[in-house]
Amino acid sequence: MTTTQINETEQLEHFKAHIAAGGKVESTDWMPDEYRTALIRFIEMHANSELMGVLPERDWILRAPTLKRKLALTAKVQDEVGHAQLLYRLAEDLGKPRSQMMDDLLAGRTKFHNVFHYPTHTWADVGVIAWLVDAAAILSQKALLGTSYAPYARTMQRICWEESFHIKHGFDIVVTMAKGTAAQREMLQDALNRWWGPLMQMHGPPTPPERDRDLTVWRIKTRCNEELRQEFIAMYVPRVWELGLALPDPALHNNGDGSWSYTTPDWNELRTVVSNNGPRSAARLAFRRAYYDEGAWVRS
Ligand SMILES: [Fe+2]
Ligand SMILES: [Fe+2]
Repeated sequence: MTTTQINETEQLEHFKAHIAAGGKVESTDWMPDEYRTALIRFIEMHANSELMGVLPERDWILRAPTLKRKLALTAKVQDEVGHAQLLYRLAEDLGKPRSQMMDDLLAGRTKFHNVFHYPTHTWADVGVIAWLVDAAAILSQKALLGTSYAPYARTMQRICWEESFHIKHGFDIVVTMAKGTAAQREMLQDALNRWWGPLMQMHGPPTPPERDRDLTVWRIKTRCNEELRQEFIAMYVPRVWELGLALPDPALHNNGDGSWSYTTPDWNELRTVVSNNGPRSAARLAFRRAYYDEGAWVRS
């Protein structure tokens, strides 16, 4: 072994011990390549999801039922694009150029969350997305406040604060429709029926794949998928039921021991959808590509 190799091994051991002891890492600190690569991959998917996630809601800005709703939805969409901007900046600081991230997203080489590959049919979808999709997302995002990469944790503080407003905006839409006419309730129930499957898939399968284990070891991710899904169910299922609405899973029930039972989500659907073979994947990517090309003169 050469002196350089010994130093590198020592550095890696020191880094691992630092992480294991709950230490934080700054962008200017030394970090192993595996850590940097895992961070970039994770943050980039998060950024892609914020960016692509506005497209289902964007469709409804011009169709919002009142001016107040239109303003609230516009503000939410603007927040989400801002989150993408902050997250792409983080990944850029770690060494991946933004143009490369955009090329990879548009070419389908990188991914974005399953829920943003589905169509929206009515205004009730806007309520269900802002309430429940954002609620499920905020649980994962809150877990990132404890992540080992300090700039990511700081960014998540601001993002989580804004996300909590999105949930209130969504809940307000849902409650208004739930207390509205029979047609509005029916519209809301239909949206819940369509979104429940993708929502249950959103946190991923309980046994994490190989890549996920690395994320836990490096403390990039601090909570496991099943824990997050259980917390989501425990918090939101009772609220949905309180509104007199149903969820399309007959197996869904509180076990009374702090856990909930539910029908196993369709993991094949999840895999298909996140590989850009979802019902709206191609259309959303084509839309993003067209606008990216149209904005080329601004970037140059
Ligand atoms: Fe967001
Ligand atoms: Fe949000």
